[in-house]
Amino acid sequence: MTLLFVNACLRDGSRTDRLARMWLERRAYPGDVVELSLARQDVRPLGAAGPNRIDDYNRGVAAHDFEHPMFDYAKQFAQADEVLIAAPMWNYGIPALLHDYLELVCSQGVTFDIDATGAYVSLCHAQRLTFVSTAGGPQVDPLDDHAWGYVRTLATRFWGVAQPDSVIAWSVDMIGADVDALLAAALD
Ligand SMILES: Cc1cc2nc3c(=O)[nH]c(=O)nc-3n(C[C@H](O)[C@H](O)[C@H](O)COP(=O)(O)O)c2cc1C
Repeated sequence: MTLLFVNACLRDGSRTDRLARMWLERRAYPGDVVELSLARQDVRPLGAAGPNRIDDYNRGVAAHDFEHPMFDYAKQFAQADEVLIAAPMWNYGIPALLHDYLELVCSQGVTFDIDATGAYVSLCHAQRLTFVSTAGGPQVDPLDDHAWGYVRTLATRFWGVAQPDSVIAWSVDMIGADVDALLAAALD
């Protein structure tokens, strides 16, 4: 059994990283925890050129040929029994590095597919996914939340996770914020 910890915390002293490790300690996962630190990965988006060409992606998906390394993140993700994603809120959304990673994870034929009726079908093992985050400012209106809102949409629509969880500490950059207390409160 494997819990895949997708770590998109990029700053030394990251509070999000701290909150994710607090969550992991509490979770006490009874299998292997595999941490994928995106800061140490050379994640490249799909593009017209470069290593992850959209034409190669489309060809691979159409032929059901997922040998190209661009599909490796999706294969790893599909095999995980549980997923933890940790990322700070940046510009009402997620860091571009995590977005690029998720773009590759959302490979049709690897983590999800589309059936004859046009409905999405999950190809992921995980039934449980948690998103851990911190934000400098106060909690935003759900319509402005493109971080948890985005991850939640992918989890429910593509990966078949019925009830993904979020653990978010807001207001950590506010003057006088008691960050330890905010992180602890987010966990509870
Ligand atoms: C590039 C950038 C964009 C940010 N955008 C937002 C934002 O849209 N909303 C917000 O509340 N805080 C924003 N912040 C503040 C971070 O969310 C906050 O400092 C967070 O705790 C950083 O997490 P970390 O300590 O794990 O790096 C931003 C910070 C950076 C560096």
